[in-house]
Amino acid sequence: MADPFLSIQHVRKSFGATTVVEDFNLDVERGEFVSFLGPSGCGKTTVLRMVAGFEEPSAGTIVVSGKDITRLKPNQRNVGMVFQAYALFPNLTVAQNIGFGLKVAGMPRADIDARVAEMLGIIKLPQMADRYPYQLSGGQQQRIALARAIAPKPKLLLLDEPLSALDAKVRVSLREEIRSIQKKLGITTIFVTHDQEEALSISDRIAVMYGGKAEQVGTPFEIYNRPATKFVANFVGTLNVLEGTVTDAAAGTVRVNSEQVSLKGKLNGSKSGDTLSLALRPEAISLGRQPGRDSSLSGEISEVHFLGSVIRVRVGIGGNTVSLDTFNSPATPPPAVGEKAEISFSSSDMLVLH
Ligand SMILES: Nc1ncnc2c1ncn2[C@@H]1O[C@H](COP(=O)(O)OP(=O)(O)OP(=O)(O)O)[C@@H](O)[C@H]1O
Ligand SMILES: [Mg+2]
Repeated sequence: MADPFLSIQHVRKSFGATTVVEDFNLDVERGEFVSFLGPSGCGKTTVLRMVAGFEEPSAGTIVVSGKDITRLKPNQRNVGMVFQAYALFPNLTVAQNIGFGLKVAGMPRADIDARVAEMLGIIKLPQMADRYPYQLSGGQQQRIALARAIAPKPKLLLLDEPLSALDAKVRVSLREEIRSIQKKLGITTIFVTHDQEEALSISDRIAVMYGGKAEQVGTPFEIYNRPATKFVANFVGTLNVLEGTVTDAAAGTVRVNSEQVSLKGKLNGSKSGDTLSLALRPEAISLGRQPGRDSSLSGEISEVHFLGSVIRVRVGIGGNTVSLDTFNSPATPPPAVGEKAEISFSSSDMLVLH
């Protein structure tokens, strides 16, 4: 990245003797939407709070637009933040909540009113100006929190799990709305979530975090298809893992449950006799031999779930079980539990996990 807008460089954070963020590095482009994805306690909020200025790094530098902001106070950073828990002022109306930062900044009343009206339009709640937070649904409250964060036109928008308290349907519609507002305004945004589908669906790039570090930073496509570590492979998406033993490292052959699979070019660093974890995404596996799939393994159908348009099938391969989805076809009855079955796949789709 030639000239990143936000640059987090070698940032570390310890509380007493415990280090919770270790050598965290990330460059974010202007206008980019980057998600922090990781399990509870991995340090997502802590990194966000350091970018916002609520927490001081123990080491490292945070740069915005070429300026070192590491030691600036939150109100000197021009950063908008939405918190996980609803944090609206309960005794202020919607309009007063949205206008709060503008009033603090000394904006004239008429300008505040105009900006608040514009924000209410952007979040599609134009009628709600005079309501109080207790008169709003959770989704509406988070929309107001978003409007309050973007009203002062921040350079950087930080969203800490803004959707986690909402039900599944509202989450999906609001995440799309957040993304479209973010694109329209062109605000550089960091969005924290532990929901992998959420991160995959709305991000330009994702930083997958684990144990206070960014394990991998990449586009959703890269993260899903070329996971750099075992943790990323398991955390993002559904994965079928098979144990294999390298039979001939030079030739690239691996034995899985007494059958051979050829993984030429994928065994870098492995020796004959090594055991490996091999992984396949469900969509990379077909039931039966299929043209274009160069590898197959035999097993037995262990579960069949008829879900309507999709049939989810589980196949036992030795001691492992593999999940795959097939489309329903009225002309072909689904497989039955206990039937012998073959699965096929392309060896190029096989991930070797290290
Ligand atoms: N002020 C603090 N003092 C001591 N430890 C803290 C403090 N703030 C956070 N931690 C610890 O730092 C670690 C990372 O916390 P953080 O809140 O960043 O996690 P997170 O990834 O946001 O998790 P979640 O998904 O549950 O919100 C946790 O183990 C937490 O207990
Ligand atoms: Mg958190």
